[in-house]
Amino acid sequence: MNIQELRSTAEQIVAPPKGILAADESGPTIKKRFEPIGVESTEETRRRYREILFTTEGIERYISGVILYDETLRQSASDGTPFPKLLWNRGILLGIKVDKGAKPLALQPGNKVTEGLDGLRDRLAEYKQLGARFAKWRAVIDIDERDVPSACAIHANAHALARYAALCQEIDLVPIVEPEVLMDGAHGIERCEAVTSQVLECVFAELDAHGILFEGMLLKPNMVLPGKKCPQQASVPEVAEATVRCMRRYVPAAVTGIVFLSGGQTPEDATDHLNAMNAMGEHPWQLSFSYGRALQEPVLSTWRGRDENVAAAQRAFYKRCQLNGLAREGIYSRAMETA
Ligand code: 13P
Repeated sequence: MNIQELRSTAEQIVAPPKGILAADESGPTIKKRFEPIGVESTEETRRRYREILFTTEGIERYISGVILYDETLRQSASDGTPFPKLLWNRGILLGIKVDKGAKPLALQPGNKVTEGLDGLRDRLAEYKQLGARFAKWRAVIDIDERDVPSACAIHANAHALARYAALCQEIDLVPIVEPEVLMDGAHGIERCEAVTSQVLECVFAELDAHGILFEGMLLKPNMVLPGKKCPQQASVPEVAEATVRCMRRYVPAAVTGIVFLSGGQTPEDATDHLNAMNAMGEHPWQLSFSYGRALQEPVLSTWRGRDENVAAAQRAFYKRCQLNGLAREGIYSRAMETA
């Protein structure tokens, strides 16, 4: 483990005002994103769409890293430049999703565990050779009634995250540790805070037990939010306060950065919440973004699979990157959305 290299990669990824573009949708997920805009998911449409994102002028001002899916890592731009090289030339670090998805956890109804540890050491070595500097593993924690998530499911996911993180640090790839508490359901913000707290406490105990260098990793958590179907939604300051309180209690100060996922929030809400947290003042870690939907929704709805919409789609993408860059500094306002 090269401590200096891990630290410096982690610091580079969260250097203000930058954050991460999560463009690592698996085959089934990108199909789901393309359906509402009437685009068929083929290897070529997926390549074309990712090319639109990666060639948007100026995004390197706000985007320090991109997380790719295996297929995309092996694809090229229309002029033949492999995507890893294209991103490298723009000073954007390459990340790779390495988990194999969440599957039902045996004997724990309603709970899932993320798979993909078998053979991971070899896969990581190949990704490193292809240019990856960091990796991502997503654990999925659902909230339902009183018994979901079970303590067993939380522990199984935390253990897998720690084993993945150790394999990454063994070869100097920065692990993004993503325990996502879903915002589906009707639970209130208090329940989300309680479950997120329990999950983070367990995750850091496992990371510590596996000897993870906290300075050389990034945490990718959910924000603390009420479920989408909860009749009582929370204000922006309420979300910011609950999220920062939860992070301060359970995330060690040695962790270099927290890069939030957007999780189904609107792009505007995701930006506003990040802004409110950064506007609260100094924190022990950098507070940044690793957004998928919150960066891509406006791009997809503008592009709609048509060449004549590409320029407008890229403008929409640049704007979201820029606004999230401002949110990193706590100087974004909703009025900028229409400016
Ligand atoms: P969302 O921001 O759309 O939640 O995606 C982030 C991600 O990478 C989920 O694993």
